Amino acid sequence: MAQGASTVRALAEPADVMLRLLAPEGKQDPYPLYEEMRAHGPLVDLNGVHVFATGYAECARALREPGMLSTDGAVQDRKMPGWREHSSWRWLTRNMLFANDPDHERYRRFFGTAFAARSVEAYRPLVERFAAETVEHVAVLGAGCAAVDLVPEFSFRFAADVIGELLGVPAGDRRAMRGIIGDITTALDPIGDLSELDRGDGGMDRLAEYTHDLVARRRAEPGADLTSAFVRARDEGGELTDEELVANLMLLTVAATEAPQDLLSNMVRLALEHPAHAARLRDDPSAAPGFVDETLRFDPAVQALNRVAAHDMDYFGMKIAEGTPVTLLIAAGNRDPRRFTDPAVFDPTRSDNQPLTLSGGAHYCLGAALARMSAETVVPMLLRRFPGLEQAGRPTFRDQLVQRGHATLPVVTG
Ligand code: HEM
Repeated sequence: MAQGASTVRALAEPADVMLRLLAPEGKQDPYPLYEEMRAHGPLVDLNGVHVFATGYAECARALREPGMLSTDGAVQDRKMPGWREHSSWRWLTRNMLFANDPDHERYRRFFGTAFAARSVEAYRPLVERFAAETVEHVAVLGAGCAAVDLVPEFSFRFAADVIGELLGVPAGDRRAMRGIIGDITTALDPIGDLSELDRGDGGMDRLAEYTHDLVARRRAEPGADLTSAFVRARDEGGELTDEELVANLMLLTVAATEAPQDLLSNMVRLALEHPAHAARLRDDPSAAPGFVDETLRFDPAVQALNRVAAHDMDYFGMKIAEGTPVTLLIAAGNRDPRRFTDPAVFDPTRSDNQPLTLSGGAHYCLGAALARMSAETVVPMLLRRFPGLEQAGRPTFRDQLVQRGHATLPVVTG
């Protein structure tokens, strides 16, 4: 036998890798599978019907390329016939994330100022107040060495309080939203059958009913919150329909809770796995931005983004035909060895770390400044309050690929 022949493994077919990525085991640890995909190149053509990008530059340019469309209604008509029967996608295609110009530009103009960096700086006292309250809540639950699941009790609770307060959602309504929001994000995963949207539809119907009601209450009795301000601006300026207002308020509610929940949980887990980096994060406020960026790069809350080619194009030498779906595996792009040294190493001190996780171009995350400020505040506060924080058993991940994150993260506060 030729030397080494038995150790050479055939390259797995891209379609096979995708299937394994979508299986429950793949979703638990997708990173080795991204490397199998990358072995086929930074752009992988799946039989001329779908393109996957695993490279950093290939993902980054697609986010800024006007010819790469987001999944709006017209795109969805071609990709997922029958979607109009499903309330999850009926609502999603009315929000800015799943819109293209001119609607996207109009929505972004309407909602942008409230989340611009300067506006967000004014929210700092509110963020600090909820950070302190959340850490105290964990202290109460963890008294007497009781195990605390940080996903609902720390990460979700804090994120939901911050956006809930900003949008004027009463405190008593925020906790119950976790299940609803979790259901909605399942509609973002690839599906084999339209019935797989049922869970997302149910969550979306409940959130739509709630948000319609919130808008009606704020219209009748305005407060100092953003929902009241958006309702007033809509009623005075008429740039949006009421449905578009509701759809985008729902997007804000979901986007500002689920991904931040996953970012915060991942930050805590990574801190517990890397005590030296955790010590720096605890003691040196200047370490926080690097820790946030590296968590976003290394274990992203959003793993993949979808685009569709608006016209035939030559993309990094690959011919992509009009209408071809292009999935940007941004979690793979974040580990592209052409862009990052030792990409599989968690190193919060890296310089020039610009993960793809908050997107880029026209759809760059509207809440990026708020997400960063919130994470930089609350996680170091938790670590300072509980220097003896430890994991209490294995954390688990949800069975989702696109919006991936912990289902549970049990700890003892020490
Ligand atoms: C760690 C936290 C977060 C992550 C990882 C994240 C990630 C993302 C990504 C990847 C996109 C763009 C998707 C695409 O290009 O197709 C996006 C868009 C968006 N995010 Fe975030 N996000 C986070 C926090 C937030 C927060 C706190 C808010 C609340 C204000 C928010 C609101 C939005 C909105 C409204 C959009 C749509 C922007 C547009 O389409 O123009 N996000 N986010």
